[in-house]
Amino acid sequence: MVYYKIRGGRKLYGEVKISGAKNAAASILPGLLLINGICRICNVPQIEDVHLTIEILESLGAKVRWLSSDCIEADCREIGSRTVLPHLGVRMRASHFFIGTLLGRFGEANAPLPGGCVIGTRPIDQHLKGFAAMGADYAVDGEMVRVSVKNGQRLKGAEICFDMVTVGATMNLMLAAALADGVTVLKNAASEPHIVDLAGFLNAMGADVSGAGTDEIIIKGVPSLHGGSYSLIPDQIEAGTFMAAVAAAGGRIRLSGIIPAHLKCISAPLRHMGMEITEGEDSLMVSRPGELSGIDIVTRPYPGFPTDMQPQMGAVACFARGKSTIVETIWEDRLRYTSELRRMGADITVHERTAIFHGVPHLTGASVEALDLRAGAALVIAALAADGVTQISNIGFIERGYHDLTGKLAALGAEISREAEERDTEEDH
Ligand code: EPZ
Repeated sequence: MVYYKIRGGRKLYGEVKISGAKNAAASILPGLLLINGICRICNVPQIEDVHLTIEILESLGAKVRWLSSDCIEADCREIGSRTVLPHLGVRMRASHFFIGTLLGRFGEANAPLPGGCVIGTRPIDQHLKGFAAMGADYAVDGEMVRVSVKNGQRLKGAEICFDMVTVGATMNLMLAAALADGVTVLKNAASEPHIVDLAGFLNAMGADVSGAGTDEIIIKGVPSLHGGSYSLIPDQIEAGTFMAAVAAAGGRIRLSGIIPAHLKCISAPLRHMGMEITEGEDSLMVSRPGELSGIDIVTRPYPGFPTDMQPQMGAVACFARGKSTIVETIWEDRLRYTSELRRMGADITVHERTAIFHGVPHLTGASVEALDLRAGAALVIAALAADGVTQISNIGFIERGYHDLTGKLAALGAEISREAEERDTEEDH
């Protein structure tokens, strides 16, 4: 078993370059399937989800190669398959973006239903409702969802109003509508930075998308998309995770390669707690001048406080003076990480979607488990500030979304390493 070993108590100092956005790559890389040409995408994070997405692209017939540590070239002119192989698709929540792109380009798509996960059931009813509004039929048989347009025609532009703000359905319908016949209007659309990034990518390849970043997005279908180059935005949540790390552990770090405007929703509560944060053009200086005070947070769609930063802020709240309250409004089960923090001595009570924290003088290192991606990040943050050594298992979740987290933290002075448990071998017995 591979695990992270962290000895807490070291303040963080130095500079960290933030990688490209995981949740931008999640939709833009499958979006390459829409393009009858060759594309070069840069600032691509080297994370497990990206490697799996590339594996799925290649399984469909795309030719993909890494040009450098963060740039890929993709040729999607010869796509033979319309089916995402189940053994690949089930390994990643975001494989549903292949439905929108295969359907948009070829009028047919088959993919495994994304399974639920610990943060919630993660349905795709809004995606399917949108495809149906554009003239597609869909059926779920067993683990597969099959979507197609009669007689291999194109999707038709439609007006779609989502029942709730959904990042995935907004992006999936943008992808499907890019090559549709006519105009698609998405109402009650999500406005996260990665939605704007997806629109930027599509328009760079010849699409006609407007309104991204507002709650109404208009996509005028075009006959085809051409190749070109595009660079992903930096990862808002990776940046926020490092901001939370220095809030818990102390010190002073500079985040580079970021877009400060994307981080205002995270900087605001941290400043309220007592952090000092100064913005540069593409950087932030973040420091903890003294003890932090408690905070009340409610997760909301962008530009509200992001749910993907909720566990990380929970870890910070464990150390903040007084009471903090966190309400999770997006996911029905995203407070499970608190049980692992309690094993380290945190004072947390949870009732339904609300967690109440009372700051304690210190946490104590323990053996804990990453229950999902951001829950794992929260444990890393708590361990950096805890007394003694913490071992974090199930780090595969963490490495799905963070590139070289241990290397980046060690470079800032953390005592963190990636260890492999000595496996018992036959001859040992
Ligand atoms: C995306 O998930 C992100 N993942 C999540 O990040 C993030 O937490 C979430 O958006 C919210 O910002 C990627 O982008 C790959 P939603 P997604 O559709 O698209 C309900 C991380 O840690 N809903 O915005 O799956 C849903 O149950 C991950 O990086 C439906 O009911 O989220 C939820 O309550 C975790 N039916 C709410 O909407 C649908 O068809 C928001 O979901 C779709 C969604």
